[in-house]
Amino acid sequence: MADLSVVVDGLKMPNPFVIGSGPPGTNANVIGKAFDENWGAVICKTVSLDASKVVNVAPRYARMRATGTKEVIGWQNIELISDRDFSVWEDEFKKIKDKYPDRVLIASVMEECNKDAWVELVQRCQACGVDAFELNFSCPHGMPERKMGAAMGQDPELLEEVCSWVKGATPLPVWAKMTPNITHIVDPARAALKGGATGIAAINTILSVMGVNLDSLRPEPTVEGYSVPGGYSCKAVRPIALRMVMELATMMYGDGTTDGEYKDRSLSAIGGVESGEDAAQFILLGASTVQVCTGVMIHGYKLAGRMCDELNAFMDKHGFANIEDFRGHSLQYFTSHADLVRRQIEAKAAKKAEKAGMVTKDTAWEGDKFVEQSNKLVSNDDD
Ligand SMILES: Cc1cc2nc3c(=O)[nH]c(=O)nc-3n(C[C@H](O)[C@H](O)[C@H](O)COP(=O)(O)O)c2cc1C
Repeated sequence: MADLSVVVDGLKMPNPFVIGSGPPGTNANVIGKAFDENWGAVICKTVSLDASKVVNVAPRYARMRATGTKEVIGWQNIELISDRDFSVWEDEFKKIKDKYPDRVLIASVMEECNKDAWVELVQRCQACGVDAFELNFSCPHGMPERKMGAAMGQDPELLEEVCSWVKGATPLPVWAKMTPNITHIVDPARAALKGGATGIAAINTILSVMGVNLDSLRPEPTVEGYSVPGGYSCKAVRPIALRMVMELATMMYGDGTTDGEYKDRSLSAIGGVESGEDAAQFILLGASTVQVCTGVMIHGYKLAGRMCDELNAFMDKHGFANIEDFRGHSLQYFTSHADLVRRQIEAKAAKKAEKAGMVTKDTAWEGDKFVEQSNKLVSNDDD
């Protein structure tokens, strides 16, 4: 049985599975359920100082199913951050930490571009006993209209500044959650790390239009006949999340040929995880923890137990004793397209020579065929 426990930025977790910010961490009741089902850590739904500005609509989700099946492969939401009073959250953070003192509770926070607001928010959460912070620089809908969320995450200079405000206000670990709605995710991540972020979390949802109803001709989800682009998540986004995590890890840790720029910082992967095998792939690309949001909405909190079993089976199969044994292992196998072409030409030439019985490596020389092998390597013999 492999050891699934991880210590990330000093936070001790029984396994790398973390509840990602969203409905599965939206109040003390469901956060308690997550700890009871042995999730490694919980990140609460994003909180802000003034919840009265947060007004949600219904319906606010839309689902994409695989053709001809009930399987959900894509999920869109136009949900905002938490609409619950911050004073209620303060109370609940304290209650959760009283009941689960040894478990890791991470406060997801978001504010407008105002240093005093960020400092107040972080320090009030800290006073309630939370263990770390995730800064939501990535909500793609609703909040950018107030220059929050993805609007901040798309501006590296601002990101660096906000991270430095927060790091100046707390000694606790601070993860910056990145938006995928940008051409080069490495640029804002580098700025967040420069500003002092302890780690990077990626990705948040991908800006999307889920579909148009062919009877009503209205886009979905439809609210009073109208809609707005929302955030796409679930299985369908996993390949994009894997690519972005790979790019971030390569910048932070290097890939064997390049040196990493931030080897001492952590990386938390998010996007379409529903199994231990999904998680293993993100860890192979450099993540220390793996967050799950939509997967919990589809499968429930018991998903953690199944994912631990699956991750364990993968690790046993390869003889990995712990997460660090294989974290980042697969980064070395990415290269440039030109290098793929070169490798393929070389491999083909070697195969052709081998087929013709030519010795291509010194280890291939054989005593019984020595003369025959020598002859095959001669180019100007018309015998
Ligand atoms: C309904 C819903 C609400 C979400 N709310 C938040 C939020 O409040 N803060 C945040 O940082 N991310 C939020 N997210 C984004 C998730 O944390 C996660 O980054 C994204 O959904 C991709 O992961 P997944 O495929 O496991 O859901 C939300 C996602 C969903 C589906």
